[in-house]
Amino acid sequence: MREFSSDDTDDLSAILSDPETMRFYPAPFDRDGVEEWIARNLRRYAEDGCGLWAMILKASGELIGDCGLTLQSVEGVDEIEIGYHVCRDQWGNGLATEAAGDCRDFGFAHLPVDRLVSIIRPENRTSRRVAEKNGMTVWKEVMRRNLPHLVYSVQRSQFHER
Ligand SMILES: CC(C)(COP(=O)(O)OP(=O)(O)OC[C@H]1O[C@@H](n2cnc3c(N)ncnc32)[C@H](O)[C@@H]1OP(=O)(O)O)[C@@H](O)C(=O)NCCC(=O)NCCS
Repeated sequence: MREFSSDDTDDLSAILSDPETMRFYPAPFDRDGVEEWIARNLRRYAEDGCGLWAMILKASGELIGDCGLTLQSVEGVDEIEIGYHVCRDQWGNGLATEAAGDCRDFGFAHLPVDRLVSIIRPENRTSRRVAEKNGMTVWKEVMRRNLPHLVYSVQRSQFHER
């Protein structure tokens, strides 16, 4: 994984404009949305020391998704979330699981947090499975954008015990 740059706009657009990949979001992203999305993550790298990073397939150098750590408010409390999107032709190859595990390790090594979360729509079984394989369990259910979401979490202490 590496940081995004504005040069990634076309490649990232191909992933985030796909309606199937974005079916649990309000809408697929258009090009302007992807430019804003990259700019937001550049700010996060500078301000938070983390953000969503570009996932690069080592064999080909191709950008095949994003995964990373972002600050999210959960019921008014700041939490660090592990999030991920993978391009559809790479689904099922274990890439989100590998990247999410690296983000969990990075978070506990470099960020002053005792807990990491993933916030997931209950219907998103694949994303839930990635969270479970990342050592997470359901912590609570919250409403976001008027829709129920499960908050999965893994504790620093629990992680070190594993
Ligand atoms: C969620 C997502 C990132 C997973 O990426 P991926 O690289 O295909 O995930 P992995 O290959 O690492 O693991 C997928 C796991 O989910 C399982 N899975 C796949 N489809 C599933 C389904 N319909 N129901 C239950 N589990 C499913 C796989 O079998 C695998 O688990 P296993 O190893 O125990 O068999 C990808 O599907 C995606 O980009 N989805 C759209 C964006 C999204 O929803 N992001 C998360 C928002 S919270």
